[in-house]
Amino acid sequence: MKEALEQFFIFVGLLVCLVYLMKCVRFSKCIFLHFWKVLPRSFLKSMGEWAVITGAGDGIGKAYSFELARQGFNVVLISRTLEKLQAIAAEIELTIGSTVKIIQADFARDDIYDYIKEKLKGLEIGILVNNVGMLPNLLPSHFLNTSDDIQSLIHCNITSVVKMTQLILKHMESRQKGLILNISSGVALFPWPLYSMYSASKAFVCTFSKALQAEYKDKGITIQAVILSLIPSWAFYSSVFQKMLLTRYVDYLKKNANIR
Ligand SMILES: NC(=O)c1ccc[n+]([C@@H]2O[C@H](COP(=O)([O-])OP(=O)(O)OC[C@H]3O[C@@H](n4cnc5c(N)ncnc54)[C@H](OP(=O)(O)O)[C@@H]3O)[C@@H](O)[C@H]2O)c1
Repeated sequence: MKEALEQFFIFVGLLVCLVYLMKCVRFSKCIFLHFWKVLPRSFLKSMGEWAVITGAGDGIGKAYSFELARQGFNVVLISRTLEKLQAIAAEIELTIGSTVKIIQADFARDDIYDYIKEKLKGLEIGILVNNVGMLPNLLPSHFLNTSDDIQSLIHCNITSVVKMTQLILKHMESRQKGLILNISSGVALFPWPLYSMYSASKAFVCTFSKALQAEYKDKGITIQAVILSLIPSWAFYSSVFQKMLLTRYVDYLKKNANIR
């Protein structure tokens, strides 16, 4: 009996050590991300010659544009402000040497896709980053008090993902390879009161990406939703967090931020 108990405690101890070892390895992966190449560089490059990035003039889209150029892709940059696109194109061509195409388009409209299609004609597109997105109100506000321009948000956050995917996936399917990254947000993981349109639009991006991945994974195409968030996703899923968000947080904001 004593021996069996001893064996049991040794087993539990080893299990705990193993769990913590795995946690350490996962943590070191985050710190040494640069050296921890999950996939060889050749995998990305095998997708095709060009990468297309929407909302490339600033922020995350701009960062993707530089990184994909560094990975050896020629890049197509799409956003509204021509001057910003020209400056980024010049910098990429000068510092990295990739070829850059720029397309000026406003994703808040839905009549731009024939123009984009024409501009992308003939390019072997291996990667599409559906990054463009707008947050209609920075400060929390009720649905009825947000700006009237709901259609722009739907076009920018939802239509752009669907239409750009439709344009490019067709060619990826015929080549049996490609990678589509749809930029979502942590607010997609759970309904966010006072940011209802934005969180719902980002939830669409996740659901759409998962469903498409199931449809197209056996055709050699990878489709992923990228969840960007400052809050770890386990927190979103915890019932304590969800309860706090739906009750105390909203009550607090209503009281203190003068939200009707
Ligand atoms: N930043 C975050 O903390 C965060 C967190 C979670 C998720 N996200 C998501 O990540 C993505 C990028 O965020 P970000 O903060 O990097 O964006 P951002 O800095 O606000 O904008 C990036 C680019 O999008 C372009 N853009 C905006 N509206 C456009 C439109 N209607 N048509 C064409 N281009 C447009 C802008 O171009 P112009 O300047 O030329 O207009 C800008 O160059 C978004 O989908 C966002 O929802 C961001």
